[in-house]
Amino acid sequence: MQPGNHPPEFLTARKFTRRELIKWGIVSGATAMSGLRALRAVADGGSNLPAGPRTTPFVLELLPGRGLPPTAQPIAPFPTLPDPATCVNPDGSTAFHVHGPRVVPPGTEHYLIHERPVAHVFHPTLPPNVLWGYDGQIPGPTFVARSGTPHLIRFVNDLPANDPVGIGLPITAIHRHGGFQAPENDGYPLDTFCSGQSRDYFYPNRPAGGLAQNEHSTQWYHDHSIDVTAENVYRGLAGFYLNFDSLDTGNELDPPPALGLPSGEFDLGLVLQDRLFDANGFLLYDSFDHNGFLGNKFLVNGLIQPFLSVARRKYRFRVLNGSNARFYDLVLSNGQPFIAIGTDSNLLEHPVTVNSFRIGPAERVEVIVDFSQAALGQKIYLVNRLEQTDGRKPGDLVSPGTPLLQFFVNRDAPDPSRVPDTLRPVTEGPGVLLPQVRIQRTFKFERSRGAWVINGEFFDENRINADPQVGHPEIWTFQSGGGWTHPVHIHLSEFFVLLHGDSRLGPLDQGRKDTLNVGASYGDASVLIKFEEFLGRYVFHCHNIEHEDMRMMGQFEVRS
Ligand code: C2O
Ligand code: CU
Repeated sequence: MQPGNHPPEFLTARKFTRRELIKWGIVSGATAMSGLRALRAVADGGSNLPAGPRTTPFVLELLPGRGLPPTAQPIAPFPTLPDPATCVNPDGSTAFHVHGPRVVPPGTEHYLIHERPVAHVFHPTLPPNVLWGYDGQIPGPTFVARSGTPHLIRFVNDLPANDPVGIGLPITAIHRHGGFQAPENDGYPLDTFCSGQSRDYFYPNRPAGGLAQNEHSTQWYHDHSIDVTAENVYRGLAGFYLNFDSLDTGNELDPPPALGLPSGEFDLGLVLQDRLFDANGFLLYDSFDHNGFLGNKFLVNGLIQPFLSVARRKYRFRVLNGSNARFYDLVLSNGQPFIAIGTDSNLLEHPVTVNSFRIGPAERVEVIVDFSQAALGQKIYLVNRLEQTDGRKPGDLVSPGTPLLQFFVNRDAPDPSRVPDTLRPVTEGPGVLLPQVRIQRTFKFERSRGAWVINGEFFDENRINADPQVGHPEIWTFQSGGGWTHPVHIHLSEFFVLLHGDSRLGPLDQGRKDTLNVGASYGDASVLIKFEEFLGRYVFHCHNIEHEDMRMMGQFEVRS
């Protein structure tokens, strides 16, 4: 990470990344950079935030094609291509995994997705903003996988090489977050493809170790390009990736042992994000706020405070925090509880009733909300009670909070759906795995020299931070210092939480997790993790994406 790796002219060729500016000593951490498109005021605290135009809440309805993304549709099989090797990353590196054409088993579904600019309307009072969407969709098309049917997806980068907006770089890598996939298909941050290039991703869509408990439910896919992930995600590159199997069939009419969870139009992904706008309604991003970017307008599925028409019955909501750095604490305005059924990629073993839940960047919480007791015409709000004024950590609970989404109960509908007492049985839990543990590792997430380190070091693609043996469970402990909160994410495998702070595990720590909040207001954590089948290099990192881009990332290499 020392200066001198790259010729100085590299810096003048294009927009700078935060990482480069720091690396080259042009800024040291928090130095103001007036003259570039720095929005220093933004990071100085809430009082200096540009307010942006007034946006009346709950005027835009979430509808298919506007906020409710289309389901990705397979196309006729096509021959796969070798990986591109020539896309030059902001740090001068090129792809680490350059693999030949994928070996595609018969029955694989093929998809073709173009990353392209799209004029997006966040709210009727704002002008269209040019975002970057998978197939031009905000959020991206929802992928629906069936366990046992692999996917081969070609992502084509049709983003402009010279983008006038200046948020993001047209250098992309696709990570299916929560996915079980080989290293060359995991969106390793160096494995990018540039404007005009494409990369094929093969997803086997089977549970790790062949264990039914590892069947996935709600994954998501997003950009993961080295140094510029935060801006590229902020610009729009994110979508849902769902998985169904013989238990969670995706059809509420299926008899037991199928679970019968609410399905079809009653099963919706809701991605929460925050965005910042200038006085004219154009998107702002502060490239020089390394602490974690916060907006002051709240989006659900790309729309500012929309409403959703719902029927008097049960719904399954897959809540994803797709924000760069913001935490949320969610309640329903009528005091009604949520029935939580899943955390991150997996269904819980048993549903649990909670009055509120907290969700950090990249986490997912799946909940059932039953509107059957509501009156016709009633409006119920999904409310964020958590204040946050900087990227350091979430603040206090506030009342009444900010309503993010209005549920407008406006009709009746039959409800044959069920929420069984047992969802996904865990057959290989801590009781089985703990006696097998031989290795424990500790990772300390800290601030250093105005940037972010794990065990004192920035991400370096040439350094392996851990070398777990395939099929052997380990205990990983995450620590944090300095009063910061870090949402720690491990690729490839979800884990069991053993310890999280000082108190007893909360109900949502009982399930499997792939992202866990560590540090201020959460405490340290220890998790039990095992990697199956795939050997090679994967990253783990802070999912405050500004921290991630500032290289708060390490890698492990699964060995035989
Ligand atoms: Cu959601 Cu490494 O990412
Ligand atoms: Cu962090």
